[in-house]
Formats: sequence, C-alpha cells, structure tokens
Amino acid sequence: ARKIWMTRHGESEFNVAGIIGGDSSLSLRGEEYARQLPHLIMDRLPLTADDETIPISVWTSTLKRTIQTASLLPFPKLRWKALDEIHAGSCDGLTYQEIEARYPDEYAARGEDKLRYRYPAGESYQDVIQRLEPAIIELERERECVCIVGHQAILRAIMGYFTNTPLELIPNLPVPLHTLIELRPMPDGTMEVETLPLNI
Ligand code: F6P
Repeated sequence: ARKIWMTRHGESEFNVAGIIGGDSSLSLRGEEYARQLPHLIMDRLPLTADDETIPISVWTSTLKRTIQTASLLPFPKLRWKALDEIHAGSCDGLTYQEIEARYPDEYAARGEDKLRYRYPAGESYQDVIQRLEPAIIELERERECVCIVGHQAILRAIMGYFTNTPLELIPNLPVPLHTLIELRPMPDGTMEVETLPLNI
C-alpha cells in the first residue's frame, strides 16, 4: 500500500474496567478519539503528482469497538474477521488479576512464553500471526492507502511483520491507545514508522 495507518480502537468500556476480550462499546473518551481520527488522517493524506489524493480504504475487525472508531472516517470500509482481537478462550471477559487468581498456572505459563502460550479454548500470538497472513498479503498487494482500525495483539503482529521484528518480541511491542501509527514504504523495501499520539 502507498501508506498504511494503524490505530487501535478508541478506549472501550472493557479497557476502562481492565477486562480482556469481549465486544464492548467505546467509552466517552473512546468516542472522542473516533471524532478526532478523521482530522488526523486528513492532515496526512499523500498527494499524487497532479495533486489528487490517493484513495483510502478503511479496514476494521468485526467487533463493535473498531467499527465505532472508524464510523466517521469518510472512506469505503471493509470488515475482516481475521482482524478480530486475540481470542482469550476461557479467560475472555476477565481481568488479568482474575486470571491470575483463578488460573495461576495459565497466568504463569503466559508470562514465561507469551508468543507460544495458547489460552484454553483460545489463541496464542503465533495463532494470530498465522491467521493474519491473508490480510497481510492483501495489504502488500493494495495500491491505495489503507487505514487499519484494529486491536492491541493484532497491530503488534502487523507492526512486527512490517518492521522485521523478531517473533519473540512481537507480543510486547508498544501499541498504545489513542495513537496513530503511520507506516511509509521506502524504496529499499523497508518501512518508515511514525507514531502520532493524541492527547485525549
Ligand atoms: O486489553 C485489551 C486487549 O486488546 C485484550 O482484549 C487482549 O486480550 C489484550 O489486549 C492483548 O494484549 P496482551 O497480549 O498484552 O494481553
């Protein structure tokens, strides 16, 4: 793609409560981010040689929080199941403290090997990296700009792929809320990364 923007959804109700997974709606702060996001993108549209803007497509997951965050972006949208957040299986809907108290062995195992650890009846980062493959292939084929409104684990995996990050480091890449990440393909095949935090 000509330029790739990536952002997590705006703050969700579950983010506020510290709960992982689920399909909650945006908090008031998250809604404010959704209102500001279009301005942030508009300021960074690349132009063609004859001053025309390059078309943009917006990719979201199938979860409410990404769809709501993208709703005010005035571009065509695509919903990808492959962009849904890492599936936490039996830990979905719990806080990290609840997981530690209820399933101490699981909690410890994840701490030891976050890349390969698979939630009971859920996914590992490795699983996520694998299921993202078709989306990444499409992203590399795409000639327009793409704005991905996604989730923490998903964007870590995509970011890791484009920056050649060693697999072991992917599960801990920093991808904060309310931050736009711009990836610009360079002539040598690498990506230039710019991080634009929004104060909300
Ligand atoms: O807390 C938000 C969230 O997107 C959860 O839904 C998800 O389980 C988690 O982040 C992924 O981050 P980590 O792999 O660090 O737990």
